[in-house]
Amino acid sequence: ETFYLKDYTPFGFEVQSVELTFRLAPGATRVQSRIHFAPKPGAANPEFFLHGEQLSLISAAVDGAPVTPTLTEGGLTCNVPDQPFVWEAEVEIDPQGNTALEGLYMSNGMYCTQCEAEGFRKITYYPDRPDVMSTFKVRIEGDEPVKLSNGNPTASGAGWAEWHDPWPKPAYLFALVAGDLVNHPDSFTTMSGKEVELNIWVRPGDEGKCAFGMEALKKSMKWDEDAYGREYDLDIFNIVAVDDFNMGAMENKGLNIFNSSCVLASPETSTDANFERIEAIIAHEYFHNWTGNRITCRDWFQLCLKEGLTVFRDAQFTADMRSAPVKRISDVIDLRARQFPEDGGPLAHPVRPEQFQEINNFYTATIYEKGAEVIGMLKRLVGDEDYAKAVTLYFDRHDGQACTIEDWLKVFEDATGRDLSQFKRWYSQAGTPHLKVSEDYADGTYTLTFEQSTPPTPGQPDKDPRVIPIAVGLLGPNGDEVCATRVLEMTEAKQSFTFDGLAAKPVPSILREFSAPVILERETSNAERAFLLAHDTDPFNRWEAGNALAREARVAMVLEGAAPDADYLDALQKLLRDDSQDPAFRALVLSPPSQSDIAQTLFERGHVPDPQKIFDAAETFAQTLAQQLADSLPRLYADTTVSGAYSPDAISSGKRDLNGRILSLLTRLDGGQQAARQYEDADNMTQQYAALTCLLKAEKGDAQSQAFFEQWKGDRLVMDKWFALQIASAAPETAASVARDLTQHELFTLKNPNRFRAVMGALAGHHAGFHHASGAGYRLLAENLIALDKLNPQTTARMCAAFQTWKRYDADRQALIRTELERIAGTEGLSRDTTEMVTRILDA
Ligand code: ARG
Ligand code: ZN
Repeated sequence: ETFYLKDYTPFGFEVQSVELTFRLAPGATRVQSRIHFAPKPGAANPEFFLHGEQLSLISAAVDGAPVTPTLTEGGLTCNVPDQPFVWEAEVEIDPQGNTALEGLYMSNGMYCTQCEAEGFRKITYYPDRPDVMSTFKVRIEGDEPVKLSNGNPTASGAGWAEWHDPWPKPAYLFALVAGDLVNHPDSFTTMSGKEVELNIWVRPGDEGKCAFGMEALKKSMKWDEDAYGREYDLDIFNIVAVDDFNMGAMENKGLNIFNSSCVLASPETSTDANFERIEAIIAHEYFHNWTGNRITCRDWFQLCLKEGLTVFRDAQFTADMRSAPVKRISDVIDLRARQFPEDGGPLAHPVRPEQFQEINNFYTATIYEKGAEVIGMLKRLVGDEDYAKAVTLYFDRHDGQACTIEDWLKVFEDATGRDLSQFKRWYSQAGTPHLKVSEDYADGTYTLTFEQSTPPTPGQPDKDPRVIPIAVGLLGPNGDEVCATRVLEMTEAKQSFTFDGLAAKPVPSILREFSAPVILERETSNAERAFLLAHDTDPFNRWEAGNALAREARVAMVLEGAAPDADYLDALQKLLRDDSQDPAFRALVLSPPSQSDIAQTLFERGHVPDPQKIFDAAETFAQTLAQQLADSLPRLYADTTVSGAYSPDAISSGKRDLNGRILSLLTRLDGGQQAARQYEDADNMTQQYAALTCLLKAEKGDAQSQAFFEQWKGDRLVMDKWFALQIASAAPETAASVARDLTQHELFTLKNPNRFRAVMGALAGHHAGFHHASGAGYRLLAENLIALDKLNPQTTARMCAAFQTWKRYDADRQALIRTELERIAGTEGLSRDTTEMVTRILDA
């Protein structure tokens, strides 16, 4: 069954209040509901339909009189009065047997829930749609020492606890947690002086991993007050860490539930990258309290309304807490790695999709990350002040409502007087625009001409021109900026912009800060790229120039068997030695484009990428760079080594990032001596893991890998790293067999999504290994997807995206992949989630 945006009809009833009682038992939990409904006069669809899946109905009553509803595939219908009435039902559910991790399930003996997007219907019969909002009272009965739900606690006694959430919310924000948990408490005083109790709840033993998350939460609460004027609105805010979780985290009202990998942190067990990600995710979920919870989505087609905006807000937060340029560069790297392939392949869909079969398949990089880019463009077009005005209007006008993208754009139109109808195409048209640039210079006037075009995507053969904000600055021949950043507003398919009064032909710096998510195509020289890398005032474009140099060097190596480009090697060395530059920035310039990224570039230029050749070029390049830097590497290593007590702050972690990259070069020359020393000395996971990575890549790390395993086998999150690293560091021809062996490891399990992703995600992420000509990687992934689908459709379906780039490759590889995709598609009883994904990928 396919659902369409155009079919939206409001629910025919108001839900005035919801009361739920849970009698917890692992295999047979009873859920009683008591719900006040009121028919809406003149409703377009007056049918009383409640969603419900995998529920055993024990009893139902309307206004106290027993009724026998008609049970259907996805719920029930019932004859009800044409005036307000009370619906009561009791159902039985099986949390213990719930391996899909959707609805109420158990993780390590603890009860927890995940209701977004449509999990509440697995808890009780209910209009499970985001535009139905109500207040909730919840009573939990069970022996578990800790019993939590949304809102504020109202009463508790031996074996029971009651909660009341005064803010009307859709069912997807419902949450319940019960178990043997311990808390890391704190408090926060809001801008109006209200004291809020804060807790991070974890399994006993994890208490020591909460302090960083708690600081991140308090910073987030403060930042949302300062930057957006948003104050927290309950007496208590709880976060719970759960080991078995399909996604990163969930913004349930007052009771955020986190994948433990996204909240637990300690210097000994977490890397710098983990710390940064945890801070960002805590902020993201907290920010949802306003952008998502107080103002929610009318239907799931509007998912980007809350996700794009909240990603945009969490990126602003990280930029403020850490380095803005470094955050921007990292986000663009991520966008190109995850969103561009999606937008350019069989899974392409608009930021606001118009149809889906399974909404869980649309929690994508397009909706989240491109959704955030669209907001960034809007802000750039209207300016900071008008952005603030519009957003304030959004909060004032729509608080308590379930909204659409039209509502969002309307506040910008009303606040600025702009017509955003053309801009709206960013929400409706899929695909990444290509932006071709040509230049002209005569008599002091410089002209830039842009041409935009977007390739066809599934269901959308033709595209209309979009509004593209192009931030441009100009540099003079000696490297001075002769024209500061100007935002060119492109609206036509082809459009020129002029700059007057120039003494000489300038060097343009185009798309500063990556002002639009497009693919820029410009004929230019390596000399000019090196010039920009040295002189551009925009840090993003400085990095971009270095990145383009790296890409061209790789492409030449792969296509022409060229040697690593000498000018580029030169520029890199200069930058590496330049202590005046931010170490984090130097680390980013030093990090090469990914092998998958090179494959995509080759494909876009009409070549068939050979994964092995791309792998070899990467190796040769790194080896050459290491040799050229041989004399300075030991000093660079020493200079960038961070000593003293570990701190995950931006400066120290940037330095450690650079240090790790230098160590990997050094390891190519010293046979792993320095890495082995670092492994011995390390008192934090960042340095321990960096050293182990170097050693394993050099095939010198067997002893350390064994020791690492022994040291950390009791820590699931660290073991996920160990599993992933075994594969990431394997040679292309062995990656699949290493992964296969790991699926036989006693600590491997299909039941834990993190562990599954550690192994299968690492395999899919090993470009030359996954795409090895033998097809062993494809086969192993397909086998495991088929096995996991029976337990957990959601995580299976997401992982299918590993095949989305299949049309890039040669006929043999395509045939191998087709065989696997068809094998998955032909599996009996395949879930709706996985069926939709595999069908879309195959239909390309
Ligand atoms: N709203 C959550 C977040 O972005 C994501 C939850 C998605 N879960 C799911 N099963 N689709 O923070
Ligand atoms: Zn979110």
